[in-house]
Amino acid sequence: MGMSMRVGLTYDLPSDYGFEKDSLIYADYCLPEEIDYMEEGIRRIGFEPVLIGNMYKLNERLKSGALDCDIVLVCDEGIASRNRESIVPALLELNRIPYIGGDAYCVGIAQNKYHTKLIAKELGIRFPRGIYVEYQKEEPFRREDVFTALQKEGLSYPLIVKPNNEGCSMGVFIVRSGDELSAAVENDFLNYQEPVLIEEFIPGKELYVPIVGTGKSAYALNVGTVLKKDGSDVELYSVECKCRDLTRYEAVKLSDRVMNTMMESALRLYRHMECRDFGRCDFRLDEKGEPVMIEITPRPGLSKDGPFESCARSVGKTYDEVLKEIILSGAKRYGLEGRSLS
Ligand SMILES: Nc1ncnc2c1ncn2[C@@H]1O[C@H](COP(=O)(O)OP(=O)(O)O)[C@@H](O)[C@H]1O
Ligand SMILES: [Mg+2]
Repeated sequence: MGMSMRVGLTYDLPSDYGFEKDSLIYADYCLPEEIDYMEEGIRRIGFEPVLIGNMYKLNERLKSGALDCDIVLVCDEGIASRNRESIVPALLELNRIPYIGGDAYCVGIAQNKYHTKLIAKELGIRFPRGIYVEYQKEEPFRREDVFTALQKEGLSYPLIVKPNNEGCSMGVFIVRSGDELSAAVENDFLNYQEPVLIEEFIPGKELYVPIVGTGKSAYALNVGTVLKKDGSDVELYSVECKCRDLTRYEAVKLSDRVMNTMMESALRLYRHMECRDFGRCDFRLDEKGEPVMIEITPRPGLSKDGPFESCARSVGKTYDEVLKEIILSGAKRYGLEGRSLS
């Protein structure tokens, strides 16, 4: 009997950092039920899960030589700086431990929404138009300068305000007046102490493209949409939606042209940024039904009935099959496939 591949899982839970599970100010962490679901999946496909925990626990295990796994599935979000998602991949690279998902550089770019947009623009991919507002620590927020910049760009209400380096829709607001805009920017400066983006509001459906594989063999599973539980579209896929389980996910049928545009541009950015093994690109439709990319996530969640599982089902695959493809995509890059044939 051969050894089955040991798959480590890094993740952080709200309790790791003393956050309230119900806080909507900071919400970028995993939920225990998501980790349980992945752990069970890893076991069902014949591998052995190793629960590591957050970046500090990983660091302890590395220092004491107690990290006993063949490959790590990185799911933690980290904390505090814009490098937070890059720390674990960098640590694993330093210690020559194979891991699944994008490297420190890739996830670092994706963490910076503005830099991702600059790259996407060079690649001919449409993102929302908008302006970048530097974090002003010492002085009060200069609203007149922002209004002038918005006018110069020809942007009008409603607008989206969002912090540049956060996730889970924290600090994302739709604003419809100068006062709402100022309040949103001040709120984000106060809570996140980083630049904010102000963007045109893309009004249509919320869509996503889950991707599996690496480089030339990467492919899009399908196109899915985020709906409220009653089946209607979300106006904003907000932090409430994400943390309070207000939404569901299903594959969607749009025109072949729109679907192909989305899948093709998602793969173009994914490959350029050297995302690996899995990822997800999110889009919305504009008023004419044309897709606009909102962001790329090199380490998307793999929750029960989530974007991956729903799109997998729509093409006749199970969660377990896709999870296995993702893990084997990583294993293959390190020449570890033999280990999987337990
Ligand atoms: N320009 C925009 N127009 C319309 N909705 C937007 C825009 N930017 C963000 N959103 C909404 O806010 C959500 C979160 O924004 P996103 O940039 O994906 O940040 P996060 O990394 O927090 O998920 C999106 O899924 C979308 O619903
Ligand atoms: Mg998002």
